[in-house]
Parts: sequence; C-alpha cells; structure tokens
Amino acid sequence: MDSIIVKGNGPLNGQIPIAGAKNACLTLMPATLLSDEPLTLTNAPRLSDIKTMSALLQSLGCEVSQLQDGQVLVMSSHALDNHVADYDIVRKMRASILVLGPMLARDGHAVVSLPGGCAIGARPVDLHLKALEAMGAELELKEGYVHAKAPGGLKGGTFEFPVVSVGATENALMAATLAKGTTVLKNAAREPEIVDLADCLRRMGAQIEGDGTDTITIQGVERLGGATHPVVTDRIELGTYMLAPAICGGEVECLGGRIDLLGAFCEKLDAAGIEVTETDKGLKVARRNGRVRAVDVTTEPFPGFPTDLQAQMMALMCTAEGTSVLEEKIFENRFMHAPELMRMGAEIDVQGGTATVTGVERLKGAPVMATDLRASVSLILAGLAAEGETIVNRVYHLDRGYERVEEKLGNVGAHIERVSGQ
Ligand code: EPZ
Repeated sequence: MDSIIVKGNGPLNGQIPIAGAKNACLTLMPATLLSDEPLTLTNAPRLSDIKTMSALLQSLGCEVSQLQDGQVLVMSSHALDNHVADYDIVRKMRASILVLGPMLARDGHAVVSLPGGCAIGARPVDLHLKALEAMGAELELKEGYVHAKAPGGLKGGTFEFPVVSVGATENALMAATLAKGTTVLKNAAREPEIVDLADCLRRMGAQIEGDGTDTITIQGVERLGGATHPVVTDRIELGTYMLAPAICGGEVECLGGRIDLLGAFCEKLDAAGIEVTETDKGLKVARRNGRVRAVDVTTEPFPGFPTDLQAQMMALMCTAEGTSVLEEKIFENRFMHAPELMRMGAEIDVQGGTATVTGVERLKGAPVMATDLRASVSLILAGLAAEGETIVNRVYHLDRGYERVEEKLGNVGAHIERVSGQ
C-alpha cells in the first residue's frame, strides 16, 4: 500500500489548479440513469470514487467512457439491463445509493443494497427512502437490499426533511424530475453540489426552481434528454489547498476558486489572520508573518462551515496562538484525526462532538494513519507544519478524493513524495 512522506516546510508559493468536485460528480453521474440519451460531464475529477461510480453504472448496463485523461465522462443509459445495485460495489462507496431515485423514476423499479455504516458515523439512508415514499414509491427491505417499486410511476408530493441531508435531497430531486405533477422539497440541502445537479438536470430538460434555497419545487416532465455539463469546482479541495499556505506561510493562488463556494470558511481564515483575495483566476491566499490566531468553528450544512473541512482546519489550529473549540454537528464520529495529530505533538481534548485545541509552537513529524479521506489530508497539512518527517499511511483514502496531491503541493514548494508499497 502506498504512503505519503511529508517533510516540514518553509513558505509555499505558486498556483494550484482545483479540480471538479468529487461530491458533485458522484451525484451528476447517476443522473444519466434518468435519460436514454447521452450525458457528458466535463471537468470531472480523476479519483478512485469516480471509478467506483463508473463501475456501478456499468454493472447496471450503462456505457461509460472516459476521454481526455478522465476529465470528460460520456455516459449513456439507453440499454439498462440490470436494476440491481450489488452490495459488493455499494459497500465501497455510500454515494452508490444515489442510483436508487433515478432508476425508480425512469423504469418504475430498482433494487439497491443498503450501504451500511462508515468510519465517520452511522449514516443511515432513511431520509432517502422517506422522500421517495412521499412520491408514492413502495419500498421493502429484504436481506440488506431496498426493493423499490412504483408501478404507475412516481407522483409529485411534498416532503419536508426533518434534518438537512445532501444525499437525500439529491436522490429526491433526481426522482422528482420524472414524477407526475409537482414535488416540493422543504428543508432541502443548499450545497453548491445541489445547485450544480439542478443545473445539469435543467440542461437535460427538467423543470426545477428554488435550488440553493431550502425549498426546491420540481415540475415533473415526461422524459429527459441528453446534455453536456461542466462539474462545479471542488470547494473542499479548494479549502484544503487554501490551508496549505495558511499553515506554512507564503502565497498560493488556487485556480478556479470562488468565495461564494466557501463563505463561512473564508470568514474563519480572515479571523485567523490569513489574507484571502479574489483574482481573475481564482483565490489568492497568503500568510505573511507570525502565528495564526485561534478561532472557534462549528460545522453546519451549507452555507455554514463544512464538516468536510473540519479535520483540515483542526490541523491549522494545532499551531495557532491560543485555544480553539471545534464543534462537529454533522457526523458523530468525525474526530479520528485528533489522536493522530496528538501523536505529532498537538494538544487536543475531545469530549463527544467537541474538540478543544491548544496551539503549540511546532508539531513534530511521526508515522500516522487515517481512517477517512479528510482525516488523511489533515495529517498531510499537519506534516507540512511539523519538524522532521511525517509518514501518512493508508493513502487509498486520499486517492478517493484528491487527485495528484503530491504533484499539486510539490509544485508550490512542499516537500512531499509518494512511496509505493509492496
Ligand atoms: C455528503 O454526504 C457528502 N458526500 C459528504 O462528503 C459530506 O460530509 C456530507 O454530505 C455533509 O456535507 C457526498 O456528497 C458523496 P448527509 P451525505 O446526508 O449526503 C444524517 C467527504 O469527505 N442522515 O448530508 O451522506 C447523516 O447521518 C464526505 O467527501 C440521516 O440521518 O451526508 C448526517 O448526520 C464524507 N438519514 C446528516 O444527516 C439520512 O437518510 C447529514 O448527512 C441521510 C442522512
């Protein structure tokens, strides 16, 4: 298994191109199941999770081709011949549940394995199922699979999500595009990935209003056509790389970055003493002198501070001046990076969903291990701020969500290399 070796660094300078969003692409790809005409996605990220979603779609009979070194995905679902999403693929990636709504909406039946728990929390899919039931789906759970039927087709309805869920909003939104009549989704997620999905569905002929607000109204149509759609910038990759100069000093321009994708995060960087400026190519981030200031962070659904940047922000706070309190409100077990950061000399006290971090002058390199994607990259960031060498193991987590991390950071002056394992 590969490892990443990071050596403590001086200032970083240069440009980092930001890829298309993994989490947008993982919901845009299943949208192909809604139409028998081709869907082309440009600006797709080259990640192992995208390969897993391709494999899932192919297992259903969808054709998927990768062009331009994987940055363009051409998909066609004109000959779907299987409506069963198998456990062997679904267990590898929870986003697999997103094939349920589209398959059910188009063909009136689908069988999808339940994803099961994961490292950051229990992550049930009950809201996905309840939203589909509100559109008339008949669901039965048998032997770990959801058997879904809508013999006369889905029907529009009103559903209010009891808690904001990105994935359940996406599943319901896709399904509603082909339901008869009007569907209203209340307390819907407002993430940029939802707006990107709605944009793509509109290009395919869907009638959607209100995406980006907490109430989305969808007028069902008979059929959807093909489209070409560019995947929105990955705001989490963007935030991660914005933290690199914040941790090491220097000035880095993140190409393709936009403040509107990360408003709450940028406010916290500002409070910590990091300069963020908009340029015509993206966002420039600079830390000119002195230690960063400690800031408190609470994770929330968009437009709040994203849970997917909590681990990386913790890495920054480990060397800040003062004490910061990080509250994780989305997932119940998302502090597994904390004990690893402590092995590098960080002072962190975790009590339930709250981590109190007292900044230290300098971290110390150590071999570390992470159990999820964002935790892994937080350890790389911490390694950049540490004295000596940090070896990050279990790099396969990283490859799920960051393309060519060592190249992107290496190009701005980071001492980072990948070592192939046996
Ligand atoms: C998406 O997961 C992202 N994944 C996650 O990205 C991200 O952390 C999360 O949204 C929150 O922003 C993708 O887009 C593929 P949720 P999702 O449904 O949709 C509870 C990363 O690192 N809930 O918004 O699964 C749930 O347990 C990751 O890239 C239910 O109770 O998240 C959680 O506490 C990991 N029942 C909360 O809602 C449900 O049916 C929000 O989860 C669904 C969710």
